Amino acid sequence: MKGATTNICYNLLDRNVNEKKLGDKIAFYWEGNEPGDSAKITYSELLHKVCQFANVLRSQGVKKGDRISIYMPMILELVVAMLACARIGALHSIVFAGFSADSLCERILDCGCSLLITADAFYRGDKLIILKQIADEALQKCKDKGCPLKKCIVVKHLAREEVAVDGTCSKSPPLKRLCQDVQIPWNPAMDVWWHELMSSASSECEPEWCDSEDELFILYTSGSTGKPKGVLHTVGGYMLFAATSFKYVFDYQPEDVYWCTADIGWITGHSYLTYGPLANGATSVLFEGVPTYPDIGRMWSIVDKYKVTKFYTAPTAIRLLMKQGEEPVRKHSRKSLKVLGSVGEPINPEAWLWYYRVVGEERCPIVDTFWQTETGGHMLTPLPAATPMKPGSATFPFFGVVPAILNESGEELEGEAEGYLVFKQPWPGIMRTLYGNHQQFETTYFKKFPGYYVTGDGCRRDKDGYYWITGRIDDMLNVSGHLLSTAEVESALLEHAAISEAAVVSHPHPLKGECLYCFVTLRDGHEFTKKLTDELKKQVREKIGPIATPDYIQCAPGLPKTRSGKITRRILRKIAKNDQDLGDISTLANPGIIKHLFNSRCDTKQ
Ligand code: WTA
Repeated sequence: MKGATTNICYNLLDRNVNEKKLGDKIAFYWEGNEPGDSAKITYSELLHKVCQFANVLRSQGVKKGDRISIYMPMILELVVAMLACARIGALHSIVFAGFSADSLCERILDCGCSLLITADAFYRGDKLIILKQIADEALQKCKDKGCPLKKCIVVKHLAREEVAVDGTCSKSPPLKRLCQDVQIPWNPAMDVWWHELMSSASSECEPEWCDSEDELFILYTSGSTGKPKGVLHTVGGYMLFAATSFKYVFDYQPEDVYWCTADIGWITGHSYLTYGPLANGATSVLFEGVPTYPDIGRMWSIVDKYKVTKFYTAPTAIRLLMKQGEEPVRKHSRKSLKVLGSVGEPINPEAWLWYYRVVGEERCPIVDTFWQTETGGHMLTPLPAATPMKPGSATFPFFGVVPAILNESGEELEGEAEGYLVFKQPWPGIMRTLYGNHQQFETTYFKKFPGYYVTGDGCRRDKDGYYWITGRIDDMLNVSGHLLSTAEVESALLEHAAISEAAVVSHPHPLKGECLYCFVTLRDGHEFTKKLTDELKKQVREKIGPIATPDYIQCAPGLPKTRSGKITRRILRKIAKNDQDLGDISTLANPGIIKHLFNSRCDTKQ
């Protein structure tokens, strides 16, 4: 209806509490990194906190349309912060807490955030991450570049009172790991503690009534040019799509306990840990840690602890667990499980079968969900128990989604075919623009094949009409379900004084799916040493984040190029794999370099 208004936070919380009478229902079980460290929050409590924090934001001068950067571990305050933004019509831009200071700074600057919300520190497995320190580095860089961001709200998480006092933690068992004395850098001109602001905030907060096309959030995803793209979603369509796809794809039932292992810093955590489940009044698990800590059975012990019925994870986690054999899985009951989901990258049939047979004991359907940050929700997916499955296929389109496969000249292919995966008509959750760059939005997604949305993925349709994603066909790669662009890694390498040229290609990896294989050309006077490769890896970690750490770095006195000077990555991919079947190399300007590169390949992980 034209002129109608809505608010997504109202629909997720107020409506569930007041109309559906779900106030006492658990919204989240929070499971900390350390077993024994846990908490829970009901729908009414969540509403209360969200209203308080929304008032905090308003008291800091935040208004509808402002951009707020959130850089936080997987804690309940992260959900509170994002919903508080949504309640007052501010756009959250969540940056995954594994990203570096440079990446955070770049994202703050790109959308002109006026405020940053972060936390003191957290543990991921054994590793202590002093997040505030990284945030401060990012803020310093922003300041150097003239950014007006003035306030930083900090959650006291690691040092929080109930667990941080000298062994007299109020929770049992005492969480020694959390009681360490960690120094958190503090800048009184800018920093404020979350709990201090919250202590005096009212829990009455009228939502900002929005148009369905008002902006909801920005989430950055890798762009093939190397600069991250600020994908923008809007209130109405995103809400509808996240809610509906969650309901049908997981066959949501009110008594479910649902667990999505994705970090909220990625789109899966936005749509299927926060917006989709809360819109349905679901109970979810929010897990701070990693699958391997304190041992490889952690996932299944959490499944048993909360009697998880619907479980959603990534192929990379499945492959990691599969490597450790069946015993750590079988040790746990898992009898509560009903549906298993997979997301983020193609799942190889071997991992699919292990997930189905070992984890689900052949009684749980698997939903292999193909979608993207840009699509807002599931595009190709089975519906559990309704769609006959094929291991490794995302099967068929979700309601309202019309896929097609095109050849290089943009012709639609019928029947059995392989080519570019595109979508023929819009769906409610489609991104509306790239923040501040509508032209790039048009050229990236709609220019190559006018009239279609181009995913950037290759796809095959079999004789039964099933869709099989074959992976990215642009200069992007997918490491453990995280999309990276070769260009961003190359530019990080090129910032090192010893490097004159760099080319990065995707290389198969047994656990991560794909990994980074880098070719680097040295400037005169530099030597290719272990020290240099270590420095280069460090450089990439610092510029982008640990997920982008290269597995292989090979010294290349030259790179194969076309006569017009374009690096031929197709050939570099073959060299990395030691595949001598190069096809046509007649267009190369310097074919002589190829033999040399084959002879100096790196065979083992460095
Ligand atoms: C890949 C993650 C095969 C694909 C939700 C896509 C998949 C990119 C699948 C988007 C799947 C995601 N099977 N490939 N089930 N799910 N992908 O934006 O290449 O982080 O284009 O969104 O991940 O990654 P993004």
